[in-house]
Amino acid sequence: MPYTVPKLTDYSPAALEHAAAECLRACSEEASAVPNDAELKAFRDRWMARKSGILTQINDLWLKGAPREAKRDAGIRMNELKARIQELVENARVTVGDLAKDSAGRVDISMPGTRRPIGAEHPVLRASREMCAVFQRMGYSIAEGPVVETDYYNFEALNFPPNHPARDTQDTLFIAGQDSKPQRERLLLRTHTSPVQIRTMEKLCPPIRIVIPGVVHRNDPPDASHSPMFHQIEGLAVDTNITFGDLKGTLDHAMKEFFGSNVKTSFRPSFFPFTEPSAELYISCFICGGSGRRGSDPCRPCKQTGWIEALGCGMVDPNVFEFVKDNGYDPKKVSGFAFGMGADRIAMLKYGVDDLQLFFHGDVRFLEQWA
Ligand code: DAH
Repeated sequence: MPYTVPKLTDYSPAALEHAAAECLRACSEEASAVPNDAELKAFRDRWMARKSGILTQINDLWLKGAPREAKRDAGIRMNELKARIQELVENARVTVGDLAKDSAGRVDISMPGTRRPIGAEHPVLRASREMCAVFQRMGYSIAEGPVVETDYYNFEALNFPPNHPARDTQDTLFIAGQDSKPQRERLLLRTHTSPVQIRTMEKLCPPIRIVIPGVVHRNDPPDASHSPMFHQIEGLAVDTNITFGDLKGTLDHAMKEFFGSNVKTSFRPSFFPFTEPSAELYISCFICGGSGRRGSDPCRPCKQTGWIEALGCGMVDPNVFEFVKDNGYDPKKVSGFAFGMGADRIAMLKYGVDDLQLFFHGDVRFLEQWA
């Protein structure tokens, strides 16, 4: 018969002693029979649950029902009893956790350990970190900046004048209720990591070489290659006499380091407000080797062209240096190159993931492939 709390009629010290001893004996017996974690909870609840655990019942039946003159003595005994029961429950918890020990308390070191899932680095962050490391080995430092950015840093100082059509391609979330502020001070979620170029040049004199990983937002409906939130890696090198040749050599080396030494690069003219000239860098498709075909099938990642767009880049536009001229960036004296790439995109290419959305669903079965 499992223990139930009896009603007390006799409150003499001897009777209280007996009732408490009975109760402890029952608890101790049950404690030594707890086989595992699941049963431990039931055992704990039976004795200690606030609402109707045995301790609560004892409180109600024995203490509250005690005659006035016995209340003090009963109270002291109940406190002792409570402490002992808590101890028994705690001991049971430790014992259940110690099942790897034999009866003499020795640990069997041949038993498998307790596996704790420690998680894995997210593939996008991993790709981003590895790409940054390629540049760090060339002497670049890491810089970071805020995700909530002002119009000034996100657009104006990057040579997107107010109302310039290039802003439309980078529509984003604007913080509400800022109509009374001048436009350059209004806050938005940054659409690219490029504003950190300006922020860094405000703080550090040339020469500088930095890479900037970070989260960006755009008004892009989600599909297999777009997401309203994604990740970029920005780069900036400024010194005297930096040329387009330096840009080409640096990025060609970085692509070979990251994707493999067989990869070829191709630069094609493009436009960005903050670089002049601007280019898009294509890499030869390392999946089909540039042939556009995989056996008799068309190669999808390069859309059968043999080339994959990897990033945007260019020589820093002198108009951009004008905004940081007083910090040592006189456009007549310094020159530099910049680039920006999608971290999610390079992760898709490197790990062969064909749907960007998979990165953001948080499905453990997908993510644990990088564990
Ligand atoms: N900020 C551009 C974008 O989000 C990418 C980019 C292109 C960054 C050229 C650069 C650059 O620094 O030089 O599309």
